[in-house]
Amino acid sequence: MSHDTLISMTRNLIAHGAADTMEYADEVLAIPASTYTDPELFELEKRKIFRRLPLMVAPSCELPQPGDYKAMDICGVPLLLTRQRDGTVGAFLNMCSHRGNPVVTAGTTGNATRFTCGYHGWTFKNDGDLVGVASPRDFGAVDKAALCLKRFPVYESAGLIWATLDPESKLSIADYLCGYDDLLKAFEFNGWTLFAKRTLAGPNWKTAYDGYLDFYHLPVLHKDTFGADFYNRANYFSFGPHQRLSTPSKFAIKVSGEDDQQMDLEKLADDEIPQEVLVQGVWTIFPHISIASFYGGGQRGALVSQLFPGETVGDSYTTQYYVMENQPETPEQVQAAHDQFNFLEIVVRDEDYATGKRQHEALQSGMMDRVLFGKNEGGGQVFHQWAAKLTHASDSELLDIFAAEQREAAE
Ligand code: FES
Ligand SMILES: [Fe+2]
Repeated sequence: MSHDTLISMTRNLIAHGAADTMEYADEVLAIPASTYTDPELFELEKRKIFRRLPLMVAPSCELPQPGDYKAMDICGVPLLLTRQRDGTVGAFLNMCSHRGNPVVTAGTTGNATRFTCGYHGWTFKNDGDLVGVASPRDFGAVDKAALCLKRFPVYESAGLIWATLDPESKLSIADYLCGYDDLLKAFEFNGWTLFAKRTLAGPNWKTAYDGYLDFYHLPVLHKDTFGADFYNRANYFSFGPHQRLSTPSKFAIKVSGEDDQQMDLEKLADDEIPQEVLVQGVWTIFPHISIASFYGGGQRGALVSQLFPGETVGDSYTTQYYVMENQPETPEQVQAAHDQFNFLEIVVRDEDYATGKRQHEALQSGMMDRVLFGKNEGGGQVFHQWAAKLTHASDSELLDIFAAEQREAAE
């Protein structure tokens, strides 16, 4: 089923490319400029989107082995992810049940089967169980079973890990993904490795995210990096709030060692279309992920960008994970992978986010009421419509929205 969907998206892109056309949204959309600058809306988004919806918190290859862990802070919520002994991932509130100290320092990764809190020494297993109260006789009797680390809903699929930062969430993560994770399996991330990661500061999270949903800017803003002859058209395919965008084209480049060959895709049967063509373009996962293929030294790789709101409405931060099918081996391959990853840092930091910062400052002047998304920018339109809808939905409406998506997909 998902393979058929990948083929039909690819055929759509080939047909539009051959005809020199693209798909358009119905009309030019205006949204209030305050969408980007209103601090109250920003606080609401952190609560209703980032602290209520499933988030892609790590690629599986960041925690490949039992005992691997990572601690991170998301919109003020301390999260601990662990690869447990049975191979499943646990997602926990990273707060000691004694008095709330984070059990693992945010921003760190490592391998451990137990965590000892740095304040008074309570010890937890990596499945969240409290196994040791320091000086238990002095402390007094407590029900250890009731004092394990609080669990968050977690879901692993397609070589990616999602968690919902609300222990009481009734929204199934699989439902929320609307089948999109089945399509993401085409990247074959299972068994890939993490080559490198870094975190960059950016502008307002939606200003930053707009750039990932937008090919319109490529030959202009990125003329010195990607080049001025880059296509600026994209067709958008949406699966609930998640969207893939890709250039309508009947050609693709086959990356094969030294020589890149151009393929005429119209001439290929469905089963001759290479996997790398089926996953071309940018795959966004609402509300904060973008995935795109890049080759470092001829090796298959992908940049997974993970965006979070920062402290203020004008700040965000993005962790870039450069994942690769195989760890590069020769010094030349390692250098080529570093060069590729460094290039992507420059593009995002010095071009996208530097522009986003300037744009945000200008919008904060309050001198402009609205901003526009063209008929060729359907992805931005859909993103902002979903962001507004999900920010303002009650908890029960949220469940209804994704139940309706399930029904629609089944039809
Ligand atoms: S807060 Fe963790 S042991 Fe006291
Ligand atoms: Fe860009």
